[in-house]
Amino acid sequence: MRVEPLDRSFGAKVYDLTLADLDQIEASEIYELWLKYALLIFPAQNLSNDQQIKFAKNFGALEFDLSPISNVRNDGSIRDANDDDIVKSLRGNMEWHHDSTYMPIQAKGAVFTAHKVPSKGGETGWADMRAAYDGLSQGMKEKINDLSAYHSYEWSQKERFGHKDPKVSEFNSYGFDIDPKPLRPLVKTHNETGQKCLTIGRHINKIPGMSDQEAQNLARELEEFACSNEDWVYHHSWEVGDAVIWDNRCLMHQACMWDLSEGRIMYHSRIEGDPISEAASNYL
Ligand SMILES: [Fe+2]
Repeated sequence: MRVEPLDRSFGAKVYDLTLADLDQIEASEIYELWLKYALLIFPAQNLSNDQQIKFAKNFGALEFDLSPISNVRNDGSIRDANDDDIVKSLRGNMEWHHDSTYMPIQAKGAVFTAHKVPSKGGETGWADMRAAYDGLSQGMKEKINDLSAYHSYEWSQKERFGHKDPKVSEFNSYGFDIDPKPLRPLVKTHNETGQKCLTIGRHINKIPGMSDQEAQNLARELEEFACSNEDWVYHHSWEVGDAVIWDNRCLMHQACMWDLSEGRIMYHSRIEGDPISEAASNYL
Protein backbone atom coordinates (compact mmCIF):
# COMPACT_ATOMS: atom_id res chain seq x y z
CA MET A 1 0.00 0.00 0.00
CA ARG A 2 1.04 3.58 -0.60
CA VAL A 3 0.48 6.18 2.14
CA GLU A 4 0.35 9.89 1.31
CA PRO A 5 0.10 12.05 4.43
CA LEU A 6 -2.10 15.13 4.07
CA ASP A 7 -0.41 18.50 4.36
CA ARG A 8 -1.89 18.85 7.85
CA SER A 9 -1.22 17.83 11.46
CA PHE A 10 -3.21 14.62 10.78
CA GLY A 11 -4.69 12.47 8.03
CA ALA A 12 -3.39 10.40 5.12
CA LYS A 13 -4.63 9.04 1.81
CA VAL A 14 -3.99 5.34 1.25
CA TYR A 15 -3.71 3.81 -2.23
CA ASP A 16 -2.89 0.48 -3.78
CA LEU A 17 -4.88 -1.87 -1.62
CA THR A 18 -8.38 -3.36 -1.75
CA LEU A 19 -10.34 -2.83 1.46
CA ALA A 20 -12.84 -5.51 0.49
CA ASP A 21 -10.06 -8.08 0.46
CA LEU A 22 -7.68 -7.28 3.32
CA ASP A 23 -5.46 -9.87 4.88
CA GLN A 24 -4.65 -9.84 8.58
CA ILE A 25 -1.27 -8.18 8.11
CA GLU A 26 -2.75 -5.35 6.05
CA ALA A 27 -5.56 -4.92 8.58
CA SER A 28 -3.00 -4.57 11.40
CA GLU A 29 -0.96 -2.08 9.37
CA ILE A 30 -4.05 0.00 8.71
CA TYR A 31 -4.95 -0.01 12.39
CA GLU A 32 -1.50 1.33 13.28
CA LEU A 33 -1.72 3.97 10.53
CA TRP A 34 -5.13 4.96 11.84
CA LEU A 35 -3.78 5.51 15.37
CA LYS A 36 -0.97 7.64 13.93
CA TYR A 37 -2.93 9.72 11.40
CA ALA A 38 -6.43 9.60 13.00
CA LEU A 39 -8.02 9.94 9.53
CA LEU A 40 -7.40 7.57 6.62
CA ILE A 41 -8.93 8.20 3.19
CA PHE A 42 -9.16 5.35 0.69
CA PRO A 43 -10.18 6.59 -2.78
CA ALA A 44 -12.14 4.47 -5.27
CA GLN A 45 -12.96 1.49 -3.03
CA ASN A 46 -16.67 1.20 -3.95
CA LEU A 47 -17.45 -0.93 -0.89
CA SER A 48 -20.80 -2.71 -0.73
CA ASN A 49 -22.70 -2.36 2.55
CA ASP A 50 -21.56 -5.80 3.69
CA GLN A 51 -17.95 -5.08 2.75
CA GLN A 52 -18.11 -1.81 4.70
CA ILE A 53 -19.38 -3.55 7.84
CA LYS A 54 -16.68 -6.20 7.58
CA PHE A 55 -13.98 -3.54 7.14
CA ALA A 56 -15.31 -1.51 10.09
CA LYS A 57 -15.10 -4.55 12.38
CA ASN A 58 -11.30 -4.47 12.02
CA PHE A 59 -11.40 -1.47 14.38
CA GLY A 60 -13.58 -2.99 17.10
CA ALA A 61 -17.15 -3.98 17.87
CA LEU A 62 -19.73 -1.73 16.24
CA GLU A 63 -22.10 0.64 18.03
CA PHE A 64 -24.25 0.11 14.94
CA ASP A 65 -23.43 -1.67 11.69
CA LEU A 66 -24.64 0.75 9.09
CA SER A 67 -26.80 3.84 8.85
CA PRO A 68 -27.58 5.87 5.74
CA ILE A 69 -26.68 9.54 6.14
CA SER A 70 -28.76 10.92 3.34
CA ASN A 71 -31.46 13.31 2.18
CA VAL A 72 -32.74 10.66 -0.25
CA ARG A 73 -35.60 8.30 0.69
CA ASN A 74 -35.47 4.59 -0.15
CA ASP A 75 -37.75 5.22 -3.12
CA GLY A 76 -35.23 7.71 -4.55
CA SER A 77 -37.22 10.88 -3.79
CA ILE A 78 -35.50 13.86 -2.13
CA ARG A 79 -36.51 14.76 1.44
CA ASP A 80 -37.96 18.19 2.15
CA ALA A 81 -35.10 20.59 2.90
CA ASN A 82 -36.97 22.45 5.64
CA ASP A 83 -39.48 20.15 7.27
CA ASP A 84 -38.02 16.66 7.52
CA ASP A 85 -36.56 15.27 10.74
CA ILE A 86 -33.74 13.46 8.96
CA VAL A 87 -32.68 16.66 7.19
CA LYS A 88 -32.86 18.50 10.53
CA SER A 89 -30.35 16.06 12.00
CA LEU A 90 -28.15 16.42 8.88
CA ARG A 91 -28.16 20.18 9.41
CA GLY A 92 -27.29 19.73 13.08
CA ASN A 93 -24.27 17.69 12.04
CA MET A 94 -22.94 20.65 10.08
CA GLU A 95 -21.74 21.98 13.45
CA TRP A 96 -18.43 20.56 14.74
CA HIS A 97 -18.83 17.53 17.00
CA HIS A 98 -17.53 14.17 18.11
CA ASP A 99 -20.02 11.31 17.62
CA SER A 100 -21.96 10.01 20.63
CA THR A 101 -20.59 12.42 23.26
CA TYR A 102 -24.24 12.92 24.28
CA MET A 103 -24.50 9.18 25.00
CA PRO A 104 -23.00 7.31 28.00
CA ILE A 105 -20.18 5.92 25.78
CA GLN A 106 -18.47 8.13 23.20
CA ALA A 107 -17.82 6.35 19.88
CA LYS A 108 -14.30 5.11 19.08
CA GLY A 109 -14.50 5.92 15.40
CA ALA A 110 -16.46 5.61 12.19
CA VAL A 111 -16.22 4.32 8.65
CA PHE A 112 -17.92 6.58 6.13
CA THR A 113 -18.46 5.88 2.42
CA ALA A 114 -19.77 7.97 -0.48
CA HIS A 115 -22.48 6.49 -2.73
CA LYS A 116 -24.05 9.58 -4.31
CA VAL A 117 -22.52 13.04 -4.09
CA PRO A 118 -23.89 16.47 -5.02
CA SER A 119 -22.37 18.45 -7.89
CA LYS A 120 -20.75 20.78 -5.35
CA GLY A 121 -20.56 21.15 -1.57
CA GLY A 122 -21.38 18.33 0.85
CA GLU A 123 -17.77 17.96 1.99
CA THR A 124 -16.90 16.44 5.36
CA GLY A 125 -14.44 18.30 7.57
CA TRP A 126 -12.30 16.95 10.38
CA ALA A 127 -10.32 18.86 13.02
CA ASP A 128 -7.37 17.56 15.06
CA MET A 129 -8.09 17.92 18.77
CA ARG A 130 -4.57 16.67 19.67
CA ALA A 131 -2.89 19.52 17.81
CA ALA A 132 -5.49 21.95 19.13
CA TYR A 133 -4.80 20.96 22.73
CA ASP A 134 -1.04 21.17 22.21
CA GLY A 135 -1.51 24.63 20.66
CA LEU A 136 -3.41 26.13 23.59
CA SER A 137 -1.68 28.74 25.72
CA GLN A 138 -0.36 27.54 29.07
CA GLY A 139 -2.97 29.74 30.75
CA MET A 140 -5.85 28.13 28.84
CA LYS A 141 -4.49 24.63 29.51
CA GLU A 142 -4.42 25.40 33.22
CA LYS A 143 -7.91 26.87 33.06
CA ILE A 144 -9.49 23.81 31.42
CA ASN A 145 -7.34 20.89 32.56
CA ASP A 146 -9.68 19.98 35.40
CA LEU A 147 -13.00 21.11 33.86
CA SER A 148 -15.74 18.82 32.59
CA ALA A 149 -18.77 19.63 30.44
CA TYR A 150 -22.27 18.23 29.98
CA HIS A 151 -23.10 17.11 26.42
CA SER A 152 -26.75 17.32 25.41
CA TYR A 153 -28.19 16.35 22.03
CA GLU A 154 -31.53 17.77 23.13
CA TRP A 155 -29.96 21.16 23.74
CA SER A 156 -27.79 21.17 20.60
CA GLN A 157 -30.68 20.28 18.28
CA LYS A 158 -33.38 22.23 20.06
CA GLU A 159 -32.01 25.30 21.75
CA ARG A 160 -28.56 26.06 20.41
CA PHE A 161 -30.11 27.96 17.52
CA GLY A 162 -32.63 29.68 19.78
CA HIS A 163 -35.65 27.64 18.67
CA LYS A 164 -37.69 26.66 21.72
CA ASP A 165 -40.89 25.80 19.90
CA PRO A 166 -40.54 22.16 18.77
CA LYS A 167 -42.52 22.96 15.61
CA VAL A 168 -39.78 25.27 14.37
CA SER A 169 -36.86 23.63 16.12
CA GLU A 170 -34.10 21.50 14.68
CA PHE A 171 -34.84 18.90 17.34
CA ASN A 172 -35.67 15.33 16.50
CA SER A 173 -34.58 11.85 17.64
CA TYR A 174 -36.19 12.16 21.07
CA GLY A 175 -34.62 8.85 22.06
CA PHE A 176 -31.25 10.57 22.36
CA ASP A 177 -32.54 12.78 25.14
CA ILE A 178 -31.11 10.91 28.12
CA ASP A 179 -30.74 11.96 31.74
CA PRO A 180 -28.46 12.63 33.40
CA LYS A 181 -26.65 14.35 30.54
CA PRO A 182 -23.20 12.77 30.06
CA LEU A 183 -20.37 14.67 31.79
CA ARG A 184 -17.00 14.55 30.04
CA PRO A 185 -13.58 16.11 30.77
CA LEU A 186 -12.66 18.88 28.29
CA VAL A 187 -9.19 17.35 28.14
CA LYS A 188 -8.86 13.61 27.76
CA THR A 189 -5.98 11.23 27.27
CA HIS A 190 -6.32 8.94 24.26
CA ASN A 191 -6.52 5.41 25.62
CA GLU A 192 -4.27 3.89 22.93
CA THR A 193 -1.78 6.63 22.03
CA GLY A 194 -1.54 8.43 25.38
CA GLN A 195 -1.88 11.79 23.60
CA LYS A 196 -3.90 14.54 25.21
CA CYS A 197 -6.77 15.98 23.20
CA LEU A 198 -9.78 18.25 23.56
CA THR A 199 -13.30 16.84 23.78
CA ILE A 200 -15.54 19.74 22.79
CA GLY A 201 -18.16 20.50 20.13
CA ARG A 202 -21.75 21.41 19.57
CA HIS A 203 -23.37 19.36 22.32
CA ILE A 204 -21.72 21.19 25.26
CA ASN A 205 -24.17 23.38 27.13
CA LYS A 206 -23.09 23.34 30.79
CA ILE A 207 -19.87 23.26 32.80
CA PRO A 208 -20.10 22.72 36.55
CA GLY A 209 -19.01 25.88 38.40
CA MET A 210 -19.93 28.25 35.55
CA SER A 211 -23.09 29.96 34.37
CA ASP A 212 -24.57 28.42 31.22
CA GLN A 213 -23.53 31.48 29.24
CA GLU A 214 -19.93 31.27 30.49
CA ALA A 215 -19.85 27.55 29.71
CA GLN A 216 -21.20 27.99 26.19
CA ASN A 217 -18.84 30.92 25.55
CA LEU A 218 -15.84 28.86 26.67
CA ALA A 219 -16.92 25.91 24.49
CA ARG A 220 -17.26 28.21 21.49
CA GLU A 221 -13.91 29.88 22.20
CA LEU A 222 -12.18 26.49 22.27
CA GLU A 223 -14.00 25.34 19.13
CA GLU A 224 -13.14 28.54 17.28
CA PHE A 225 -9.49 28.15 18.29
CA ALA A 226 -9.37 24.45 17.33
CA CYS A 227 -11.30 24.63 14.06
CA SER A 228 -9.97 27.82 12.47
CA ASN A 229 -6.31 26.79 12.19
CA GLU A 230 -5.83 25.44 8.68
CA ASP A 231 -3.00 23.13 9.76
CA TRP A 232 -5.43 21.27 12.02
CA VAL A 233 -8.48 21.10 9.74
CA TYR A 234 -9.11 19.18 6.52
CA HIS A 235 -12.25 19.19 4.36
CA HIS A 236 -12.68 16.27 1.97
CA SER A 237 -14.52 16.68 -1.33
CA TRP A 238 -16.15 13.31 -1.90
CA GLU A 239 -15.99 11.18 -5.00
CA VAL A 240 -18.37 8.24 -5.29
CA GLY A 241 -16.52 5.15 -4.05
CA ASP A 242 -14.39 6.91 -1.42
CA ALA A 243 -14.14 5.30 2.01
CA VAL A 244 -12.70 6.86 5.16
CA ILE A 245 -12.06 5.78 8.74
CA TRP A 246 -11.65 8.40 11.46
CA ASP A 247 -10.72 8.31 15.14
CA ASN A 248 -13.61 9.93 16.99
CA ARG A 249 -11.61 10.10 20.23
CA CYS A 250 -9.26 12.78 18.95
CA LEU A 251 -10.96 14.36 15.91
CA MET A 252 -14.08 16.43 15.56
CA HIS A 253 -15.98 16.50 12.28
CA GLN A 254 -18.69 18.40 10.46
CA ALA A 255 -20.76 17.99 7.31
CA CYS A 256 -20.88 20.92 4.89
CA MET A 257 -23.98 22.33 3.22
CA TRP A 258 -24.96 21.46 -0.32
CA ASP A 259 -27.94 22.27 -2.51
CA LEU A 260 -30.52 20.14 -0.68
CA SER A 261 -32.52 19.67 -3.86
CA GLU A 262 -29.65 17.37 -4.90
CA GLY A 263 -29.24 13.92 -3.39
CA ARG A 264 -26.31 12.89 -1.22
CA ILE A 265 -26.08 9.28 0.00
CA MET A 266 -23.40 8.25 2.49
CA TYR A 267 -23.20 5.18 4.72
CA HIS A 268 -21.87 5.38 8.26
CA SER A 269 -20.65 2.47 10.43
CA ARG A 270 -19.94 3.47 14.02
CA ILE A 271 -17.28 1.77 16.13
CA GLU A 272 -18.13 1.34 19.77
CA GLY A 273 -16.10 3.18 22.39
CA ASP A 274 -14.17 1.42 25.13
CA PRO A 275 -16.55 1.05 28.11
CA ILE A 276 -14.03 2.64 30.50
CA SER A 277 -12.02 5.23 28.55
CA GLU A 278 -14.99 6.52 26.51
CA ALA A 279 -17.53 6.46 29.34
CA ALA A 280 -18.93 9.72 30.59
CA SER A 281 -17.65 10.28 34.14
CA ASN A 282 -21.20 10.20 35.55
CA TYR A 283 -21.87 6.85 33.85
CA LEU A 284 -18.77 5.00 35.08
FE1 LIG B 1 -21.21 12.95 13.26
